[in-house]
Amino acid sequence: MIDLRSDTVTQPTDAMREAILRAPVGDDVYGDDPTVVELERRTAEILGKEAAVYMPTGTMTNQLAVRAHTESGDTVLTGPGAHLWFGEGGAPSPIAGVVIQPLDGVRGVFNGDTLRAALPLGEPYRPARWSGPPRLVCTENTVNAAGGSIWPLETQRDVIEAAREAGLATHLDGARLWHATAATGIAEIEYADGFDTVSVCFSKALGAPMGSALAGSARQIERARRFKQLYGGGFRQAGMMAAGALHALDHHRDRLGEDHRRARVLAEGLAKMPGIDIDLKAVQTNIVRFRLREMAAPRLVDLCAEADIALLASDRESLRAVPHLHTTDGDIERVLDVVGRALT
Ligand SMILES: Cc1ncc(COP(=O)(O)O)c(C=O)c1O
Repeated sequence: MIDLRSDTVTQPTDAMREAILRAPVGDDVYGDDPTVVELERRTAEILGKEAAVYMPTGTMTNQLAVRAHTESGDTVLTGPGAHLWFGEGGAPSPIAGVVIQPLDGVRGVFNGDTLRAALPLGEPYRPARWSGPPRLVCTENTVNAAGGSIWPLETQRDVIEAAREAGLATHLDGARLWHATAATGIAEIEYADGFDTVSVCFSKALGAPMGSALAGSARQIERARRFKQLYGGGFRQAGMMAAGALHALDHHRDRLGEDHRRARVLAEGLAKMPGIDIDLKAVQTNIVRFRLREMAAPRLVDLCAEADIALLASDRESLRAVPHLHTTDGDIERVLDVVGRALT
């Protein structure tokens, strides 16, 4: 089976399973699981923040960041198709009671002026209280919905500056921030600089079985810990899973360029096929998104499944393929062959 639906489908390697087996553990709720404590310390250090908190999922780190930064009725500004708005079960409304205002952008990237233009004029023209007062700006790097595109550092800084001028908090959904660093050589700490909170995932291309961390100031992270407990996220001997994440940080970050290379080969191969539209400029890391001109996307998914290949249909016309830890060059060749034959 060649499973390219997501980079979340990876299995722990033997070495990772060994690390998990040997992990010293305690009780996460009492704060004395040494492996969790070490993962939180490492994550805070990598991102240049005072503290970090380990949680079961990226949905939880994103949503509890939103919850920690806002009050019910506030407005949260995001990029178009932001995962925390569109891909997390509708969570911002029931969990934080906020309204999401998506901003226009190119490949998921918007700038400071777009943010400024979206804010209420203020007294005496249009007071912020007439709609949900804007409170938080969230960006995503890399941008999943756009096909793994990377935020330029200067554009991030521009948005953070515009947010500061307006007194807004900032959160970075860095589920795949590791990929931005692998592709550009710009360290995670630089991408994280200036954001109040940053979420990173260990369960995507890093290949850990589960878990994400939220990093920020000691005060923000203490507040997030309170919500982690409230939503049932105190997960006791979580060090078993944190050990997988630590192993992934040490052993799987250096290989992400391989995923980028395979994504590029796949994208260029697909681009040559009549019947496929693909924005090659968007393929900057490990995600390949493409559109079918004639066949319905679920039909291609079914035809590929007959050949033991799993792709994700994101809507009636669009598909996603994500090379990851277990994908080989041969897999990419085979996918191109099967898709090519299915479309002719
Ligand atoms: C950009 C982004 N943020 C957050 C998440 C949520 O992570 P999780 O699946 O661990 O809840 C995902 C999941 O794919 C994602 O792609």
